[in-house]
Amino acid sequence: MSFEIDLSGRCALVTGAGQHIGRAIALALAQTGAKVAVNDIVAERAASVVDEIQQAGGQGVAAVFDVTNPTDVKQSIENLAPDVLVNNVGNTGAGNPPGETIMPFSHFTKSDPAEWNAMFAVNLFGVLNCTHAAVPAMTERNWGRVITIISDAARVPERRMATYAAAKAGAAGFSRALAAEVGRMGITVNCVSLGTIESEHVQKAREESPDAERDRKLLRAYLAPRLGRPEDPASLVVFLASPLADWITGQTYPVNGGYSTAL
Ligand SMILES: NC(=O)c1ccc[n+]([C@@H]2O[C@H](COP(=O)([O-])OP(=O)(O)OC[C@H]3O[C@@H](n4cnc5c(N)ncnc54)[C@H](O)[C@@H]3O)[C@@H](O)[C@H]2O)c1
Repeated sequence: MSFEIDLSGRCALVTGAGQHIGRAIALALAQTGAKVAVNDIVAERAASVVDEIQQAGGQGVAAVFDVTNPTDVKQSIENLAPDVLVNNVGNTGAGNPPGETIMPFSHFTKSDPAEWNAMFAVNLFGVLNCTHAAVPAMTERNWGRVITIISDAARVPERRMATYAAAKAGAAGFSRALAAEVGRMGITVNCVSLGTIESEHVQKAREESPDAERDRKLLRAYLAPRLGRPEDPASLVVFLASPLADWITGQTYPVNGGYSTAL
């Protein structure tokens, strides 16, 4: 017996897919034969991932828009009419240049309420904007997938993450409620919750405070003793996007090396 995931004839839109986790998800979806719309606010990033997809023999198209701008989102997504929407854009915060994330986030009591908007605009309203624009075409087809990337910061108490956690938990609550509204229209809605994934930020923090114990302390929280790789969530996203996951909806699945566990 063998499993095969074939999404040829489907269009999958991945937001924030110009680098890192979104890029890995876009490349994995392209391997299933889906046409992949690579969204990013930074045009060069989207173009570079489209190029990678095409070099590998897949179908990719750039979709450059800002997920926080409802007018641009509506126009672009209605044109694409994706069968699969992966809401991957996230992180970022107030004062960051478009497409950049400056860590660390701040202690809640020290944060300025004016900073909260940026966190919610990207991590929650971006999800709402894209989903609102994508679901009508899915409903007409009686088939669709909405998959949203959240963070274990929304599931586990963590310092300096309060507004980020609130926005990500909001996206998870939204997804569960939406699953109830669209389940009878052949649309599934799920979240994938991530632990820390290796990135330039993690590497930079390592270089800025070289502490032999630092990684060891960080990894103590992980049952599988390594940080994640961008490819780790990609295979679960492909599975949730596939017909194999027809009866899975309204759920949040952790891909976190065992950072948090639940019955
Ligand atoms: N990196 C981690 O360790 C980690 C952990 C838990 C959850 N997550 C979540 O995983 C997702 C991906 O994270 P990442 O680390 O790959 O992100 P990243 O910051 O490396 O990449 C995000 C991409 O989104 C683009 N982008 C930013 N704002 C945008 C906007 N308004 N519209 C369109 N594109 C925009 C950026 O240009 C960038 O290419 C996010 O939802 C994040 O919250 C990441």
